[in-house]
Amino acid sequence: MIRLADYLNSHNTAVAPCFVCGDSLKVLKTLPADCVDCVITSPPYYMKREYLAGGIGLESTYLEYIDHLLAVTAEIQRVLKPSGSFWLNVGDSYKKKQLLNIPHRIAIRMQDEQQWILRNTVIWDKMKVSMTQSKDSLGNEYEPLFHFVKQRTGYYYDADSVRKKPREARVEHGAVVSATGVSGVRYKRKIELSTELTKQQRESAYKDLENVLERMKKGELSDFRMVIKGANQRVTNGDTARLSGRAKELQEKGYYFLFYNPKGSMISDVWQIIPEDTQGRKLHFASYPEDLVKTPIVLTCPEGGVVLDPFAGTGTTNFVAASLHRKSVGIDLALDYLELAQDRCSMYGLLNDGVLERIEE
Ligand SMILES: C[S@@+](CC[C@H](N)C(=O)[O-])C[C@H]1O[C@@H](n2cnc3c(N)ncnc32)[C@H](O)[C@@H]1O
Repeated sequence: MIRLADYLNSHNTAVAPCFVCGDSLKVLKTLPADCVDCVITSPPYYMKREYLAGGIGLESTYLEYIDHLLAVTAEIQRVLKPSGSFWLNVGDSYKKKQLLNIPHRIAIRMQDEQQWILRNTVIWDKMKVSMTQSKDSLGNEYEPLFHFVKQRTGYYYDADSVRKKPREARVEHGAVVSATGVSGVRYKRKIELSTELTKQQRESAYKDLENVLERMKKGELSDFRMVIKGANQRVTNGDTARLSGRAKELQEKGYYFLFYNPKGSMISDVWQIIPEDTQGRKLHFASYPEDLVKTPIVLTCPEGGVVLDPFAGTGTTNFVAASLHRKSVGIDLALDYLELAQDRCSMYGLLNDGVLERIEE
């Protein structure tokens, strides 16, 4: 049987996931520090369902439940490399009509007590409302997915892997027009009509605008905006020079440009993904969709890196990691779920001859 530590240390690029059956807190404690690139997981939600082997989620109070999860997130912080990312998907629960706000209570405690840095709260829009009997509250259609890092800068982040492809600028009747229809004609008019530009600023604005249009014609830029002093435009990032570099540029130079990234714009923090259809499943009902983990993996785990899911269930994280050429470790208390996970991932090869490493009490 391959040892988990050997798997993590090996330079072998084979991507077959390594599954470990046991309590995630105990298994994590056996791992060395700084050994995984990315953690993606969805722990059991509070008081939602009973899994085959029990575990976290059925505590008598939500405070106890959060304490248990916080013990796990502390270990995750230890095993995660300084350049690593932790993506946590957790849903909310009601008790006596009170929405407990559990995801945010967890996130805030992680920030305050464990010094995690929260980079985004992604809203997973499930595009369909949950079945609810309630006549005095709204149906729920989203869950949060928190992105945490250990250090403020220098964490692995491949922004270009997820950008939306930009539309190209085009030439119409000999004039260049940007992807969103900007031809420069209106900006020339605004420069001309501005009552606040000096003669020198006006000339410089015309010249720079011509240069930008030329760069767009050559295909170096696909789109831009120009903000001109005294032209009645909305100013980005506040308008006091003390608060914003752009406001300062506007004050001193009389105008500034905003350039769209030629590689495309960044995706937003609202992701529309239809949940897994778990109707008719006998063994496991709470798998998350593959698309929910694809983006975190390409964005925050380098190729050949290691992804960890400490509540692996049916191995969605591991399956997607393998398909994207990343190694992965999946931990779960229930052997039956991990067998499903291993079946699912078998096309990427099996470790341990199909035997799961087991960490006993
Ligand atoms: C929401 S499910 C994860 C589903 C998974 N994302 C998937 O796509 O299949 C949570 C899992 O946590 C497991 N679990 C609960 N307590 C655990 C513990 N203390 N240690 C390890 N696994 C645990 C459950 O058995 C369950 O499979």
